[in-house]
Amino acid sequence: MAKGRIFSGVQPTGNLHLGNYLGAIRNWVRLQNDFECIYCIVDLHAITVWQEPQQLRATTREVAAGLLAAGIDPNTSILFNQSQVPAHAELAWIFNCVARLGWLNRMTQFKEKAGKDRENVSAGLYVYPNLMAADILAYKATHVPVGEDQKQHLELARDIAQKFNHDYGTEYFPLVEPLIFGEATRVMSLRDGMRKMSKSEPSEFSRINLTDTPDQIAQKLRKAKTDPLPLPETVAELESRPEADNLVGIFAALADKTREAVLAEFGGKSFSVFKDVLAALAIASLGPMADEMRRLMQDPAEIDRILRRGAERAQAMAAPHLREIQDLVGFLRP
Ligand code: AMP
Ligand code: TRP
Repeated sequence: MAKGRIFSGVQPTGNLHLGNYLGAIRNWVRLQNDFECIYCIVDLHAITVWQEPQQLRATTREVAAGLLAAGIDPNTSILFNQSQVPAHAELAWIFNCVARLGWLNRMTQFKEKAGKDRENVSAGLYVYPNLMAADILAYKATHVPVGEDQKQHLELARDIAQKFNHDYGTEYFPLVEPLIFGEATRVMSLRDGMRKMSKSEPSEFSRINLTDTPDQIAQKLRKAKTDPLPLPETVAELESRPEADNLVGIFAALADKTREAVLAEFGGKSFSVFKDVLAALAIASLGPMADEMRRLMQDPAEIDRILRRGAERAQAMAAPHLREIQDLVGFLRP
């Protein structure tokens, strides 16, 4: 018996990387046993910043291949791309009218992405969190597994659900619970322990892509920034050492151990010893996934079929909800 309904999303804006995998996707795979799961490639979110159409099509398929290779089962879970299910955009409009400007003004991701050129970013980037709330609530999902960077957006989704329920005098929407777990909920850049590993960082050496070859993985980890000291004996000592903390966190997540257990083994050892073992571990866990991804990408028509079937199942769940929501709002319907 499922413990609840899960929704989560990933943007098709570039290669999937180790942060996506350890912070989100690996958890998505594990949750499939206990929850009813809906996983979405959020192409509507992707175009909040410019995407070349050809490239967007290719990365949408590539991300789908990555999710399948990681172990998302498209028969038990629902896997689809957002633009094929109209309920997302339709509910997002209603939420644009529920969310307050003051709430959106507080979103740190918007501030980071807009930077100094605020006048020139798309209006979509600003209302991005409203679409994210619509993604989740179109299915009345209760649990959302994400990396730490999405926490604020999920709080906004709760605020939207609560305000909608209050304004329309209903208990229609459930309150959304974030699921943020594992030893690597925020994987940092390999070049700078203070920056998040991200698809948009120009340096390829800052991240490990799920499509990287064993040689690339080993090279990137060997070149990863560290400090001159050996590894500490205790987790408390990692606090002031962001690069060490990041590599130990990655090791712990890949090995399914705690940071304590990793330091019990490597405390006092040099980074060069540690990095060799880490590289072997990363290659052993990511290598087979990259092979499977490459195999799947040779048959784009099959990927498209899987996504289309997922979209049909998603639409069948969301459409009746949307009709109920339209009634609550007071829209006339045929
Ligand atoms: P995105 O690539 O921004 O669409 O993110 C997809 C999922 O991966 C979300 O749940 C993010 O929170 C998660 N994620 C992205 N980057 C990282 C990171 N550096 N560390 C941990 N989780 C991440
Ligand atoms: N904004 C999320 C990210 O960039 C992706 C996303 C879109 C999402 N809709 C969602 C995540 C709904 C969880 C639930 O990581």
